[in-house]
Amino acid sequence: MNNTIGKIYFNDTKLKAIKYKKSILEHVSKVIESGIFLNGPCSKKTELLFKKYFDVNYFVSCASGHDSLCLALQSLLLDKDDEIIFPVNAYPSAFPIYMNNLKGVPAEVDLNGQLDPKAVIKLITSKTRVIVMVHLYGLVGNLDKMVEICKKNRIVLIEDCAQAFGSLYKGRHVGTFGDIGCFSFYPTKNLGTLGDGGGIMTKSKKHFDYLEKAVQYGEKYRYKSDFVSGHSRIPEIQAGIINIFLENIDSEIKKRKYLSNYYIEQILKCNLHKHISLLSSNKDSKPASHLFVIRAKNREKLRVYLKKANIETFVHYPYSINKIPAFNFLSQRNFPTAEMLSQEVLSLPFHPYISKSQIEYIIAKILQFYTLQ
Ligand SMILES: Cc1ncc(COP(=O)(O)O)c(C=O)c1O
Repeated sequence: MNNTIGKIYFNDTKLKAIKYKKSILEHVSKVIESGIFLNGPCSKKTELLFKKYFDVNYFVSCASGHDSLCLALQSLLLDKDDEIIFPVNAYPSAFPIYMNNLKGVPAEVDLNGQLDPKAVIKLITSKTRVIVMVHLYGLVGNLDKMVEICKKNRIVLIEDCAQAFGSLYKGRHVGTFGDIGCFSFYPTKNLGTLGDGGGIMTKSKKHFDYLEKAVQYGEKYRYKSDFVSGHSRIPEIQAGIINIFLENIDSEIKKRKYLSNYYIEQILKCNLHKHISLLSSNKDSKPASHLFVIRAKNREKLRVYLKKANIETFVHYPYSINKIPAFNFLSQRNFPTAEMLSQEVLSLPFHPYISKSQIEYIIAKILQFYTLQ
């Protein structure tokens, strides 16, 4: 294995930016000349392109994935004691609930890190109003079951698709199954821009009417706010970049799938499945492969070994929500699966521009680590 491979970054966002640099610079130049930096034609076009791509009626752009979840929750006009069930391992998805002073109810996950329907059923009370299903790592859990639970109990289903743009379930895009789908355009996401951005998709005209105003001081007409709200706007520069990337997203997702299959092939070829296990998505899904996550024995030692070999890795996420100081007000229930996963999961370098030789090098180093144990 050659030593000239250099540092392998976890996610090399600049490569996509460089690939589309010419179109991006032309777009930035047009925005500068137009003098319209917010609430202009680019963000309107993002909304149109999204509606077309997902074949949905309502989509509102906003400033971030975090805001998309905050706004989705706000649009439901919840009471303080209404309960929101969410997966205990989904670090970024917990914050919008508690930031809005709402009552979160963390739930256990399955061995693939997805919300466990059996755990959810046990947590449902007369106060449960919302379930936030997070398609973590771009994988998909049991969506049919979650839709069924929500319908039966008159619960709103919010799909957090921040990590799952392009993942399909039974041939349909995730985000279109629940009442509301939330998206992030954070740079490392499948449809990441060169800054922040987000969006909210909904089937409900009522939610849409609320959301359209909620992103701009509760206004339908300027200075005539119907309710008190902040604002959440995607800058025109970022929206236009999203529009460029959206035109090319299918080929990017194809590359992700190809490269994640290549990782799997290499793992199997090296018999590594004795030491590490792969996560899987529902059999009826086609995940868009956002992260390449494995479960690894001796994870921390392996991370150090890979770091010495110039391979950058991350852990999504090292703690379940109940173990994080900011959430110490949560009742100290145990979440054995989520806690076990937080000790074992490891996200290997992964993005559409990683090369096959880089993947081979990473796998060789992992094999070397376990051989030396
Ligand atoms: C599952 C999930 N939800 C929400 C968010 C928040 O998105 P953003 O960073 O765009 O605010 C993220 C981003 O890390 C995420 O991964």
